[in-house]
Amino acid sequence: MNILLLGSGGREHTIAWKLNQSPRCSHLFIAPGNAGTETEGTNLAISVSDFEAIKDAVLQYEIEMVIVGPELPLVEGIYDYFQADESLKEIAVIGPGKSGAILEGSKAFAKEFMNEFNIPTAAYGEFTASTLQEGLDYIAQQTPPIVLKADGLAAGKGVLILDNILEAQNELKEMLSGKFGEASSTVVIEEFLSGIEFSVFAITDGKEYKILPVAKDYKRIGEGDTGLNTGGMGAVSPPPFVDDTLMQKVEERIIKPTIEGIGKRNMDYIGFVFFGLICVNNDPYVIEYNCRMGDPETEVVFPRIQSDVVELMMAAHEGKLNTINLEIDDRSTTTVFLVSGGYPEAYEKGKIIDGLDQTFGSLIFHAGTKLEGDQVVTNGGRVIAITSYGSDFKEALKQSYENANVIDFPKKNFRTDIGFDL
Ligand code: AMP
Ligand code: GLY
Repeated sequence: MNILLLGSGGREHTIAWKLNQSPRCSHLFIAPGNAGTETEGTNLAISVSDFEAIKDAVLQYEIEMVIVGPELPLVEGIYDYFQADESLKEIAVIGPGKSGAILEGSKAFAKEFMNEFNIPTAAYGEFTASTLQEGLDYIAQQTPPIVLKADGLAAGKGVLILDNILEAQNELKEMLSGKFGEASSTVVIEEFLSGIEFSVFAITDGKEYKILPVAKDYKRIGEGDTGLNTGGMGAVSPPPFVDDTLMQKVEERIIKPTIEGIGKRNMDYIGFVFFGLICVNNDPYVIEYNCRMGDPETEVVFPRIQSDVVELMMAAHEGKLNTINLEIDDRSTTTVFLVSGGYPEAYEKGKIIDGLDQTFGSLIFHAGTKLEGDQVVTNGGRVIAITSYGSDFKEALKQSYENANVIDFPKKNFRTDIGFDL
């Protein structure tokens, strides 16, 4: 079948690479894609939010499956758009409807959902401009650090962790008066949880689910998890501390009640659930839900899936996930991101990337790249993800780092300590 994949990051290049291993994938289209996805199929110059242009492409290229990479089109209702259109209704859209994507689209909704279904998460309060004073009082009763979260999507910037009460109160005022626009018109204030974070993924049809390999990503720009947050500097799968006992708790206390909750609330959900978790004294808590795969986690999770992912996604679409026996590679995977100097603050684009054809023993996934003539040049902050396999994550990392030195572009930067805390 012809498949359309929406997105343009390392996550999408990885998914595209995996889709092409399936005999069921006849032709792959990627919108808008990058220089890497260009070698996996046909890039279409369509924005992920332009539903009408997506519809035209689906009809023109006789596409039967649409896989949605990023959260924005999901929260904006691409699934519902397809459902409401007679000519698109039968297409398998992999990604939840608006009623499911709100688990990522509204942090207040997610907290209320977790409370109803007794899913472990940090204690919280929810405030708007009309309850500002209650919010200030709530902060005054907390012990810092204090976690403030914009309710809506804020391009990964909507979470602030403050070390003192006065600062947190000032931030609350700023957020409620539009610091993140509409996204912070409601603010969630949360208890700070101290522990080690990890990412668990499942694919669901709203009733059944299959758990994918677990991963840990490294978000900060600096060594030892210091400095500003980024879209992700590297990842490891599996993180060794996530043992069977912890995963059993995750499944019983978090995954099962979440999927049951999705069912009980009649949310439209065919697609991936991303559980952003933290382990506190050997117990898992939910930090956040996302309604899609993670990036850079996908770059280590998908290479460990041995089963046919088109079959897996089709089974989710048809409500037959229980017929799938998911096979996972026992080996570890790591990914190391090469980023543009200056990122996540100001950086330059358009730098020529050398050495792409000289790497060995790793998978090279493109993120912020584009083709200029036949040259691959940088086109974003996070540029290339280098994924490797190994008998353990240290062996895999060694390979990723060898190739991190082979690929080069002006002002290249990367973290040399991925997995440092494992
Ligand atoms: P989120 O966008 O909700 O994933 O938050 C971004 C980051 O903030 C998370 O990856 C955590 O590192 C941190 N964070 C969020 N909520 C909490 C919390 N309740 N306690 C400690 N850290 C948190
Ligand atoms: N790696 C975190 C995310 O994709 O949101």
